[in-house]
Amino acid sequence: TEPSRPAGRRTGVHDASRAAIAPRHLRTDRWWLAPAVTAAGLFAFVVYSTWRAFANADYYHAPYVSPFYSPCLADNCAPMRHGPNADVFGSWWGLSPALLILVFPLGFRLTCYYYRKAYYRGFWASPPACAVAEPHTKYSGETRFPLILQNLHRYFFYFAVLVAGILTYDTALAFRDEHYRWGHMGLGSLVFLVNIALIWTYTLSCHSCRHIVGGRLRHFSKHPVRYRLWGWVGKLNERHMLLAWTSLISVALADFYVYLLATGAFDDPRFF
Ligand code: FES
Repeated sequence: TEPSRPAGRRTGVHDASRAAIAPRHLRTDRWWLAPAVTAAGLFAFVVYSTWRAFANADYYHAPYVSPFYSPCLADNCAPMRHGPNADVFGSWWGLSPALLILVFPLGFRLTCYYYRKAYYRGFWASPPACAVAEPHTKYSGETRFPLILQNLHRYFFYFAVLVAGILTYDTALAFRDEHYRWGHMGLGSLVFLVNIALIWTYTLSCHSCRHIVGGRLRHFSKHPVRYRLWGWVGKLNERHMLLAWTSLISVALADFYVYLLATGAFDDPRFF
């Protein structure tokens, strides 16, 4: 006789058109480990970045400005003389200036194809893992509000390129000393250099970038330059998950490094 379907479950893998298998899944490995570690890692970053974004303090120590606070767009921002800053919002903006900026990298990461998979699995169990049925009885995918907004990702990509450009400029300025003279190199300069390399490789490994570079073409043979670029982006794209994590960690570390300097907890070792 056919095994009975769980009561109240008539959708997804329990739909009448699917094989009637009573157990939620047949996996015997530790399938829960990856989503659990992912959720813990993302949660830790959210807690850290929320604290730092709202702190509105200890984000500048010449010549370093935290990537969470660059560019400065309000009057209440400390390092106005530092780099690509513009007093767009003037003095009426009383909150942390990081909040004006973080919306762009945050939107980029929140709508990223990899992070979507990560937090759908880690936080919503939708589904928790491959071949493990999700607990929800309904599934509307990303075709309706609010998840249809995930389609904004390609536009966030353009902002992310802009932000990466500004952080590149900040990294160049990390090779000036506190008197704005060129020729300085401290441990912080290297921290910034590694961070911007990871930010760029993550940004360029984006699926939208791959489509912008090589999509909508009928014949690659007629577009050799785009074909070559598409090949390079594809190579980065294979490592998108790795780059998503390493750049997330490096941006937090770069911010934390500035925090340590600004609070006086650490002195930037200088190489020259
Ligand atoms: Fe991950 Fe675009 S898909 S950044």
